[in-house]
Amino acid sequence: MATIFSTARLHNKVVLVTGASSGIGAATAVLFSMAGANVVLAARRAEKLAEIEQACIQANKDGGTGKGGRYATLSLDVNNHGQVDSILSALPDWAAQVDVLVNNAGLALGTERVGDLKFDDVDRMLDTNVRGLIRMTQVFVNMFKARDAGHIINVGSIAGVEPYPGGSVYCASKFAVRAFTSALMKELYDTQIRVSNIQPGMVETEFSIVRFHGDKQNADKVYAGIEPLAAQDIADEIVWAASRAPHVNIAEVLIMPTNQAGPFHVARSTAK
Ligand SMILES: NC(=O)c1ccc[n+]([C@@H]2O[C@H](COP(=O)([O-])OP(=O)(O)OC[C@H]3O[C@@H](n4cnc5c(N)ncnc54)[C@H](OP(=O)(O)O)[C@@H]3O)[C@@H](O)[C@H]2O)c1
Repeated sequence: MATIFSTARLHNKVVLVTGASSGIGAATAVLFSMAGANVVLAARRAEKLAEIEQACIQANKDGGTGKGGRYATLSLDVNNHGQVDSILSALPDWAAQVDVLVNNAGLALGTERVGDLKFDDVDRMLDTNVRGLIRMTQVFVNMFKARDAGHIINVGSIAGVEPYPGGSVYCASKFAVRAFTSALMKELYDTQIRVSNIQPGMVETEFSIVRFHGDKQNADKVYAGIEPLAAQDIADEIVWAASRAPHVNIAEVLIMPTNQAGPFHVARSTAK
């Protein structure tokens, strides 16, 4: 009997990861490559994508499955309607049938309280985290419906479970992701299409640098005195969800560092 922990189910599958140029998306692309999948890496920064593509090639060799090994990078801004709507025509032939879509591209901008919100930030968060994810899903769900197969894995957040002051709009965006994902699952439960929401707590990536508009010192304070999750920890969960048996749908996962129990329940030690 094949082990239920096997990643063999991913061999030669086609996986498209948005936000693959950094953090969770990059780690996810690499881990899928190691498991023998073919991966399309999408994001705005082409040079970063090229670096991660090289890491995928290496991971595939290290994985040693002899499967997968096909990669493509795709310049994609999920806020660009034209790019998203025509994405299928931009995929290479081998990726014409995507099996797993990982909607990971997303960001938080600022920690202002309501009254001091900056509407450029508000718009970018809602556009990227919500509208971009919905638009990508709309394209691929029709491909999946036509084949009665496929897996949509959305990257939500603890912010979509427990709102916190200074995060009103980011939390609202991730609550929207959670609601959208749950509604979609209920639209598709009579099909073979799977829908998952992977919700990380604190993960050390470029996330906080982006949130603090490039202020690395402030970003570092977020992770002071605690061992945060690494991008690979979330990639593990995403690849695990994608590699379950076809009758198993991982609906929601909430993952936090051991010393975190909520957005502001963070046990910090000066010794760490
Ligand atoms: N880090 C955390 O603590 C944490 C916790 C919970 C949830 N999350 C979620 O995890 C996801 C990944 O974040 P991360 O922590 O890995 O942060 P990250 O290192 O900053 O990565 C974010 C990725 O999203 C991409 N992206 C941003 N805007 C985009 C756009 N308009 N179009 C296409 N791609 C875009 C970025 O690529 P380009 O800049 O190259 O486009 C980058 O690859 C996000 O949805 C985030 O909300 C993170």
